Amino acid sequence: MSIKIAPSILSANFATLGEEIRAIDKAGADYIHIDVMDGHFVPNLTIGAGVVKALRPHSDKIFDVHLMIEPCDPYLEDFAEAGADIITIHPEAGSHYHRSLQSIKAMGKKAGLALNPATSVDVLDHVMDHLDLILVMTVNPGFGGQSFIPLMDKITKIRDMIDQTGREIDLEVDGGITPETASKVINAGANVLVAGTSTFKGGASMYANNIKALRGA
Ligand code: DX5
Ligand code: ZN
Repeated sequence: MSIKIAPSILSANFATLGEEIRAIDKAGADYIHIDVMDGHFVPNLTIGAGVVKALRPHSDKIFDVHLMIEPCDPYLEDFAEAGADIITIHPEAGSHYHRSLQSIKAMGKKAGLALNPATSVDVLDHVMDHLDLILVMTVNPGFGGQSFIPLMDKITKIRDMIDQTGREIDLEVDGGITPETASKVINAGANVLVAGTSTFKGGASMYANNIKALRGA
């Protein structure tokens, strides 16, 4: 299985975001992971659809937009129009996440569902047909740079559920990913690694090496 690296721009220099996106693209990122936080669903406030739109011309890579906003429904169209390729929501961020996933698909985008550390895999049961990506949070969402929570059994269980569908659904892991934790989650069945701190550390001259270290895990 080929491993994809999705640098989280939460750890980039926000003063020069366009430049940062170009640098991480050139360094070999597969997806650009964009963390959208509302200061309500999670205790931090980041960026909105306007920033996603402004960044779009800076890279042709897949924009993997992780919405940590509640409610998410009123903003799905904005992010779709801004140029998101994948839109991932949390099941807790609206009372009808089946409908939210359907809306994302109806806009011609790929749909993802994110599971917090304490969220059961049962939330996947009736929406599997609508999913292109499942995001397993290995930290509680809100901030970069937190310590990895080892949820390998959960990842393995979801990998089995995906394999049973016979469809290609990305299994992405987000939070505390380093070359060490990367090898654990890959062994458990993950194929997309989100990494903020460990891809952006050391400045632009290090990005390619940082990505290589994760890929080699
Ligand atoms: C956390 C975000 C993550 C975060 C990862 O709420 O969803 O994408 O930026 O950062 P690191 O890799 O530093 O744990
Ligand atoms: Zn994220």
